[in-house]
Amino acid sequence: MKTATAKTQNRLTVGQIWRDPENRHVVGCGDAVDPGFIHELMHGNLATLAVHDPPYNLVMFKKRSVAEFIDWCREWIAITSEHLTDPASLYVWLGADQKKHFQPLPQFMAMMAETDFDSRSFITMRNQRGYGTQKNWMAIRQELLYYTRGNPSFAVGYTDIPKILRGYYKKVNGQRTENLERSKSNCIRPGNVWVDIQQVFYRMEENVEPCPAQKPLKAIERIIETSSAPGDIVIDFFSHSGTTLIACERLGRRCITCDLDSYFAEITIRRLEHFRATGKTGWQRDDPFAGRLSAP
Ligand SMILES: C[S@@+](CC[C@H](N)C(=O)[O-])C[C@H]1O[C@@H](n2cnc3c(N)ncnc32)[C@H](O)[C@@H]1O
Repeated sequence: MKTATAKTQNRLTVGQIWRDPENRHVVGCGDAVDPGFIHELMHGNLATLAVHDPPYNLVMFKKRSVAEFIDWCREWIAITSEHLTDPASLYVWLGADQKKHFQPLPQFMAMMAETDFDSRSFITMRNQRGYGTQKNWMAIRQELLYYTRGNPSFAVGYTDIPKILRGYYKKVNGQRTENLERSKSNCIRPGNVWVDIQQVFYRMEENVEPCPAQKPLKAIERIIETSSAPGDIVIDFFSHSGTTLIACERLGRRCITCDLDSYFAEITIRRLEHFRATGKTGWQRDDPFAGRLSAP
C-alpha cells in the first residue's frame, strides 16, 4: 500500500503535467473538473474517444450525496465534451448501489439525457468475485455506459468463446446454409454482456498491487479497438493504475490522462516506463516503487 517513501518519489504535484519523451502520451496530476488544468493537459488536441472510470460515490472514495455526485459528473462530462472531436465516443464505468435504489446509475443516466451525447449501449461486465451470496443474488456486475456524439466508427471484434449453438439455417442462392458456415468467426461477439474478461487479481502480470480499482486491460483494449483507430487520441481523466495508457501504448493510440492523486499519476507514468523497459503490463505482486526512478 501507499508508503511515505513512495509519496516522496512522486514526480508530479497537483497542476503538473508529464509529457512522454517519446512524444506519444501525456499524464497529468490534476482535477477532472478544473477546466484550466484540462485545457493545459489537452494542449489544443481533440480526442476521438473518452474512457472514464470515476470513483462511484461508494465506500472507497470520499462520499457525497447523490445530487452532489451527479453535479460533479455533469462538470467533467461538459469538460470532456469540449475536448472531443465530432463525431466521438464516450464510455463511462459506473457502479450501482443495490441497497440504495441502484444509485448513482439511474441519476447519471438521467443527467446524460440532458447532454449532447446519444445513449448507445448499456454494457455489463461480469466479475468473477462478488459479494452477498447468502441472502441475495451474488453481486458480480460492473456497468459500462456507451455514448456517442454523431456517428463515430465502430469496429466490433469477437471474443475467444467458440460458438456452441448452431443457430438458424438460411437459404443462400437456393442452398441451405448453416449459421456457422455463413459467419465470419467461429467465436461469438462480445455483445453487451461481457463474460470473458478476468477480473484483475494478484497472480496476473497486469496487476498493480496498490490499485484497488484497476480495470482489466482486456476490457479497455476492447473499447479502444472498437471505438478508435490507430493514431487517435484517447482521454481518461481518472487514470489510477494507468490501464487506458497501457492499452493505448499497446494499440498504437495516443493517451492523454490524469489523476488528482499524485501517487496514482506516478504509478501511471511508472507503468508505462516499466512496460517499455520489460514488455510487462504490470508488476504482479512486486512493488512499483522498488525500482529506480528515471530522470524527470
Ligand atoms: C475508479 S479509479 C479508476 C481506475 C482505472 N480505470 C484503472 O483501471 O486503474 C478512479 C480514480 O479517479 C481518481 N480521482 C478521483 N477524483 C478525481 C478528480 N476530481 N479528478 C481526477 N481524478 C480523480 C482517483 O484518485 C482514482 O485513482
